[in-house]
Amino acid sequence: MKKITVAIDGFSSCGKSTMAKSLAKNIGYTYVDSGAMYRAVALYCIQHNMFDATGTLDINTLNREINNIDISFKLNPLSGIADTYLNNKIVEAEIRTMAVSEKVSVVSAIPFVRERLVALQQEMGRQKGIVMDGRDIGTIVFPDAEMKIFVTAKPEIRAQRRFDELISKGDNNTKFEEVLSNLTQRDHMDMTRKDGPLKQADDAILLDNSFITVDEQMKWLVDKFNEIVV
Ligand code: DC
Repeated sequence: MKKITVAIDGFSSCGKSTMAKSLAKNIGYTYVDSGAMYRAVALYCIQHNMFDATGTLDINTLNREINNIDISFKLNPLSGIADTYLNNKIVEAEIRTMAVSEKVSVVSAIPFVRERLVALQQEMGRQKGIVMDGRDIGTIVFPDAEMKIFVTAKPEIRAQRRFDELISKGDNNTKFEEVLSNLTQRDHMDMTRKDGPLKQADDAILLDNSFITVDEQMKWLVDKFNEIVV
């Protein structure tokens, strides 16, 4: 069977990663979470004190150091899923914290950051057989992807999902309103940045998963995949 590229883009917290991960497992493809790469760069900036007290990022220092930031994925034999590594240190938990979520939109709007990560992502997908999720995968990273999905869901539903995830990870300090406001802010920044903005590719299929179950969604995706690969 021919190998294709699957690009899944959409808003924050609409279950893209869960969906992309299960689809990849189901069809035997490699899964790459491009958001984790932007989160890892944001974590690097926090760890290296590149944000001042007002939250402004020292872009010149980041520009000087960008080539020292190594991001990779290694398969975790226990979970069967790839963990994110920043300079050879596992950062899977740190990159999902609110501290990183609050800084990642600023970092991901910087053209030289996008240029570097897009090049890395394109290299990862050179052999096809990949499912990658993000914001600009179907438009910029893999404009020729054979299967493109654009996912959306109502903001309150997405915020509730992210809130439940934080609670399940033991974060009882973050309020629902904070999560909702962070999410709507990120939606706005993602859609309005000049470089690689979040937008549906002309040839992407729209999926609103506000009111469908994870199982229904997976069946829909696998059916679409099978229609495309035959
Ligand atoms: O999918 P996520 O919420 O983990 O992504 C984290 C941030 O990274 C998000 O605010 C937007 C940004 N991002 C991006 O700009 N381009 C991508 N391809 C993936 C994520």
